[in-house]
Amino acid sequence: MNDLLLRACRRETVERPPVWMMRQAGRYLPAYRKVRERADFLTMVGTPELAVEVTLQPVDLLGVDAAIIFSDILVVPQAMGMELSVDEGIGPRFPQPLRTEADFARLRDVVPEGGLGYVLDAIRLARRSLDGRVPLIGFAGAPWTLASYMIEGAGSKSFAVAKRFLTEQPERAHALLGRLAKVVGAFLKAQVAAGAQVLQLFDSWAGALGPEDFRTFALPYLAEAVRIAKAAGAPVIAFAPGAGWALEEIARVTGADVLGVDWQTEAAAANRRAAPFPVALQGNLDPCWLYAPPPAIRERTVAMLRAFGGRGHIANLGQGILPDVPVDHARAFVDAVREWRT
Ligand code: CP3
Repeated sequence: MNDLLLRACRRETVERPPVWMMRQAGRYLPAYRKVRERADFLTMVGTPELAVEVTLQPVDLLGVDAAIIFSDILVVPQAMGMELSVDEGIGPRFPQPLRTEADFARLRDVVPEGGLGYVLDAIRLARRSLDGRVPLIGFAGAPWTLASYMIEGAGSKSFAVAKRFLTEQPERAHALLGRLAKVVGAFLKAQVAAGAQVLQLFDSWAGALGPEDFRTFALPYLAEAVRIAKAAGAPVIAFAPGAGWALEEIARVTGADVLGVDWQTEAAAANRRAAPFPVALQGNLDPCWLYAPPPAIRERTVAMLRAFGGRGHIANLGQGILPDVPVDHARAFVDAVREWRT
């Protein structure tokens, strides 16, 4: 059994860092696109057999050291009662975002085994199919990222609608964020009970907030979700892209086992900010470097591995892999890590 990821999360000595890629089960893989021809994205997410089929593809085809369950962060708001639709070529959105008192009143609390039972079924099936080959990562969106998506209704450049909500209705914002922290924490715990061996929290829109607002509206709720999830016993990775300046605070306040490092943050700065805390680091090659010729990808990857220093490092991209990256280029990244020795 390949347990490199579990050992790296605990900062134990490893022969080499484990490697996986955020969004590794995705459209850059021809095998994924083939499944996608038969089923739309939400059907794939909602059908454990299909979700598990694509979860295993990067393990089989690229030899990554971890599988991440194929799902989406938006399944939580969907289970809370929000209709989710996917516009081909644009991405997922909530056609009726949270705006009025009545919109908030309609939100349901979720029992993971109920409304999100299909994700837990997929995790159980994935563990059986993996048969111990590599560890399985479960995940969820962090409260601020989910709340902003629920209020905006879609992704956004400025997040003006969600941020306006924070300024105009801070009490209602805190109530929503607190509720999401509980739901997300319970969902992550249930994922561990179903077989997830490592957890990752995605606070993908952390970078939309300035330092004060990050400390007020994102960090405490990320910390609460981590606290609840950690009780299940699996290591927790906290990834807050755009908040590299806050790595020290994230380590101190959340107690996460691993900090995700975005590609905008230098490894030396991440190492320095994390040094006082018992945390491992994950990241952080710029996903656009996977467009470079494979020899250049290998060179960049080795430089990244050296900069992080090996122990307590999980090799990854600094953001999700892009859909038009050639598979051979993704393989060059993975192979460069697999051939490296600390
Ligand atoms: O990493 C993995 O392979 C596991 C699966 C995974 C997906 N989304 C599958 C997906 C994970 C961990 C996510 C997380 C996610 N989803 C985030 C946080 C991570 C990040 O990228 O910052 C966010 C913000 C979302 C919401 C979301 N889902 C967006 C904005 C989009 C559209 C963008 C896009 O790439 O099309 C999605 C759709 C989505 N989620 C796809 C995949 C493979 C593409 C679906 C398709 O068309 O086949």
